[in-house]
Amino acid sequence: MKVRVLGSAAGGGFPQWNCRCPVCVLAWNGDPRVRPRTQSSIAVSADGAHWFLFNASPDLKQQIAANPPLHPRGQGRHSPIAGVVVTNADVDHVGGLLSLRERQPLSLYGTERVLATLADNAIFGVLDPQVVERHTLVLEQTAPLCLPGGASSGLSVETFAVPGKPALWLEGGTGSREDTVGLLVRDGAGALLAYIPACAQVTEAVRERVRGAKLLLFDGTLWRDDEMIASGVGSKTGARMGHVSIGGPAGSLAGWAGISIPRKLFIHINNTNPVLIEGSEERQAVIEAGWDIAEDGQEFLL
Ligand code: MLT
Ligand code: MN
Ligand code: ZN
Repeated sequence: MKVRVLGSAAGGGFPQWNCRCPVCVLAWNGDPRVRPRTQSSIAVSADGAHWFLFNASPDLKQQIAANPPLHPRGQGRHSPIAGVVVTNADVDHVGGLLSLRERQPLSLYGTERVLATLADNAIFGVLDPQVVERHTLVLEQTAPLCLPGGASSGLSVETFAVPGKPALWLEGGTGSREDTVGLLVRDGAGALLAYIPACAQVTEAVRERVRGAKLLLFDGTLWRDDEMIASGVGSKTGARMGHVSIGGPAGSLAGWAGISIPRKLFIHINNTNPVLIEGSEERQAVIEAGWDIAEDGQEFLL
């Protein structure tokens, strides 16, 4: 199984177009301690020829250009992208669906809740259901990922609820366990990826879920809960946004302590997060705890 990081930043990317927080300023200045990052998405393939996007970010076109395995091949219309799996309805995770609208057959996977949100919003009708098959992911169940038309891709996903909340733009309604999910991705050989780009707390249930994974990609949005406030660029805490912070006694480094997964990286990193800065105290703490910070273009072979 191949896993490619298309975008390792959270919503807004890094640097964010309208942000001069201390970390974005480094990126705008071209400081070598930071690398720009696009918004939250990975691509996974069992055979290296057919790829599933896990979340489709508003930066998708740039991400396809930067990742040759996703370029069209042959003549006429073609794409190695066989489908998209979405973990929630956040703008950074569904915005890129609108860039996949050129009548390319695709398989689209999400929970009933998230697919209903897309169905209720007429703009996503540009992905004509005749061409883009919708497939429902059921909590606590494993589903094969099928190529458009129904052939097996060699990948399956197990869907599980994680502590979280509905997308920002859907707030006001009632919450559901299907609002934001984690996924275990397997291929025929048993390679196991745990992908959890949004999670409000590292509970014992979440730890138990990912047991046996070879690679864990986990929500690294913020270093500390009040980081956006402290950086002077927002009023919301991480908890308010459904993201556990990395640092601190209630943070994810502490929450994941002792977990035996060979490769663990933070992904979906907000532009205010000091772990983006090579050599920072916070980056050092992450590395000392056995974690890494995901980068755009990274590929893992499981
Ligand atoms: C989040 O991860 O909390 C969202 O992507 C925020 C947003 O939609 O801007
Ligand atoms: Mn997000
Ligand atoms: Zn910023």
